[in-house]
Amino acid sequence: MNQDLSNVMSEQINKEYYSAFLYLAMSNWLDQAGFPGASQWTYAQYQEELAHAQNLFHYMNYRDEKIEFSLIEKPDSEWQSILDVFQSVLKHEQFVTASINNLATVALSNNDHAAYIFLQWYISEQIEEEASANDIITRLKLAGDNTNALLMIDDQLGTRTFTPPVVPGLPNQA
Ligand code: FEO
Repeated sequence: MNQDLSNVMSEQINKEYYSAFLYLAMSNWLDQAGFPGASQWTYAQYQEELAHAQNLFHYMNYRDEKIEFSLIEKPDSEWQSILDVFQSVLKHEQFVTASINNLATVALSNNDHAAYIFLQWYISEQIEEEASANDIITRLKLAGDNTNALLMIDDQLGTRTFTPPVVPGLPNQA
């Protein structure tokens, strides 16, 4: 693997672990704020982010690449409201989308079509993550300060569960 690509892949592993940490902090804040459903939703997202990092790790091993590990940044831990949390989710996912797009660009510019194919799953995943954050923000804005409506949305968010993703291009997956 080209060294530039290897470096950005390592950096992405760090970003995915940071994402996991951020969602864990959100899950804790939401639990404290009385939103157990949204806390469950962000906990499931924490598990997803761990899987994103783990699959990048496995891919680097599969390609026999050395990973550069570095310090994981401290996540935010305070928000003003449940809407503020999900606006942070969207902002963060937009940042990750830009990072994944950059990874794909580096893979293509180095003619690493195998890495590019592997990254396709991450590109599609980002579209889904931004769409679901946008959808939740829209519903929270409609609910406004209506406690009943907010608690109904919270109940719906609590139905989310984590299913380990299957990423094409990785060996030995279910
Ligand atoms: Fe790993 Fe939320 O993207």
